[in-house]
Amino acid sequence: MPRKKLTNLQRVTLRFQNKSIVLGLTGGIAIYKVASLLRRLVHDEGAEVQVIMTTHAQEFMSPLIFETFSGKAVITDMFLGEKIATRHIDLATNADAVLVCPATANILAKTVLGLADDMLSTVILTAGAKTIFVPAMNTAMYLNPITQANLAKLKVLGYGILEPAEGPLACNTEGKGRLPDENSILAYLDQRLNGKRRLTGKKVIVTAGATRAYLDPIRFISNRSTGKMGYALAEVAVREDAQVILISGPTNLTQPWGTQLITVETVEQMQQALEQSDDETDYLFMAAAVEDLIPLQPSPTKIKKANGFAPIAVSPAPDLIQEFRTRHPKTCIVGFSVEMEDGAERSVQKLQTKGLDFIVWNNPNTPGAAFAYDTNEVTMFAADGSCWNFPLASKRLIAEQIVDAVLTKLGA
Ligand SMILES: Cc1cc2nc3c(=O)[nH]c(=O)nc-3n(C[C@H](O)[C@H](O)[C@H](O)COP(=O)(O)O)c2cc1C
Repeated sequence: MPRKKLTNLQRVTLRFQNKSIVLGLTGGIAIYKVASLLRRLVHDEGAEVQVIMTTHAQEFMSPLIFETFSGKAVITDMFLGEKIATRHIDLATNADAVLVCPATANILAKTVLGLADDMLSTVILTAGAKTIFVPAMNTAMYLNPITQANLAKLKVLGYGILEPAEGPLACNTEGKGRLPDENSILAYLDQRLNGKRRLTGKKVIVTAGATRAYLDPIRFISNRSTGKMGYALAEVAVREDAQVILISGPTNLTQPWGTQLITVETVEQMQQALEQSDDETDYLFMAAAVEDLIPLQPSPTKIKKANGFAPIAVSPAPDLIQEFRTRHPKTCIVGFSVEMEDGAERSVQKLQTKGLDFIVWNNPNTPGAAFAYDTNEVTMFAADGSCWNFPLASKRLIAEQIVDAVLTKLGA
């Protein structure tokens, strides 16, 4: 089917377009990973980035690579380079965020003490809580009570701290102290810069992907859902600061930062996961494509071709959304429908019979929409008859529009 031509803006969400970011690099071994992060920030996400390197950071890498990716001269010394009067103040004042990545134990300690003995620490002192630290260091350095006390103090003062990941470290040990992966750093930055925190303290469950109904231990019935829409919704809910549980069928996607991921395969497992995690749920986004056709008599062994195939008798899957509504009359439930004929009428009917608050209608007849694509075009209906059309755009942008419309409607 021919795809509609998309503008760049429709195709992707540039999370940091028109954002001005100071990227502070300090002398940590993980600095080599930040060249790739910078490239994504500038080239894929639309940010304008000014890099500052400490003297020790320059021992690890040359400013040239960061200059190339940022398209700007790297500031390496407070008193060298362009002589623009109060550059240390202007840089901090004009930046939307100062991202210190990797952040050494040293820069954390200096910030707590209010030291301003080089360009980066001076900019941090001016920028205050606009600063986001991504600490990365040896586990002993990280767990040292002095470092921990410094981090606690910075948190109280409102600075952003992205916790390091666990795993193998450059010093040939394993533990906490690794630089988190790029996606996590970008998601955290997105939350700090763009999140309106409309879901702080709220619990959100998102279901995503397809379930599988087994015919025998080898074969199953499933559908074309890839989970992309659900994962995008989970990311957006995290950005709004919700506690997010993502219940996902098998996908090729990576766990969005800030979510609790529960992976399932069958409708029964999804049913169980929903039952176990649904206490006091504020919002349910039921984006999973639960497979409707359940073989009545799955074979315990592989069905042999030589014996000939008998017709497969199927029964409908349990109605998970209806069950959830019965257990939780007050949760805001956003259902999803896939309808090809009379889609609007059928979707509204589903919304009414299942007692949903909203329903998002996906129409696979629309080029570039519904299963497998990175893009989607949907129509959303509310229980009170309101209706929204979100034209063809990236699934991430569609997710932002869905969440925004739901929260605006509910006055959140
Ligand atoms: C090979 C090597 C690797 C280092 N890696 C780290 C690191 O990952 N994290 C850290 O906090 N310090 C690390 N250090 C120590 C810092 O470079 C040192 O504390 C330095 O004073 C930091 O200066 P800065 O914060 O001004 O950049 C490392 C030192 C060396 C020699």
